[in-house]
Amino acid sequence: MKKISVIGLLTFISLIFFNSCYYDKADVVYPAVTCDTTTVRLSVELENIMAASCYSCHSGTADLGGGIVLTDYATIKDYADFGILMSCLIQDGSTSAMPKGGAKLSDCEINKFSAWVNRGAPQN
Ligand code: HEC
Repeated sequence: MKKISVIGLLTFISLIFFNSCYYDKADVVYPAVTCDTTTVRLSVELENIMAASCYSCHSGTADLGGGIVLTDYATIKDYADFGILMSCLIQDGSTSAMPKGGAKLSDCEINKFSAWVNRGAPQN
């Protein structure tokens, strides 16, 4: 009898321990896994997003983007530095909402642009 209740007590304690451990880890790990903004390069992460959502209008070959060629670094750098790029993407109403006529970018995609802009919009 005594042995069983000791095992029962240990099981109870370990359940509490593992449960709290599980929740602590989930809180910390979840956002990092779903949206990683530690490395955001114009030529890789942002290029992928723009190839899918922007270049149909804003590349040198397509002229549906009001003459704005985002494949040109000097151009995207200017729009980034003046706050226009982020304004278009978060769609705050003070500039044209982008992607024009399409669905807003996901929060994670917008966060990647924002991280890059906040680091000075480097040519990386
Ligand atoms: C369907 C075509 C189309 C797509 C796709 C598109 N744009 Fe545009 N974009 C335009 C046009 C046209 C303009 C010129 C302003 C206007 O007519 O609204 C423009 C203007 C802009 C401007 C300048 C806005 C201003 O107010 O000066 C920025 C910055 C921009 N686009 C970024 C983007 C980004 C980043 C994407 C992808 C996430 C994107 N665009 C996708 C057509 C497009």
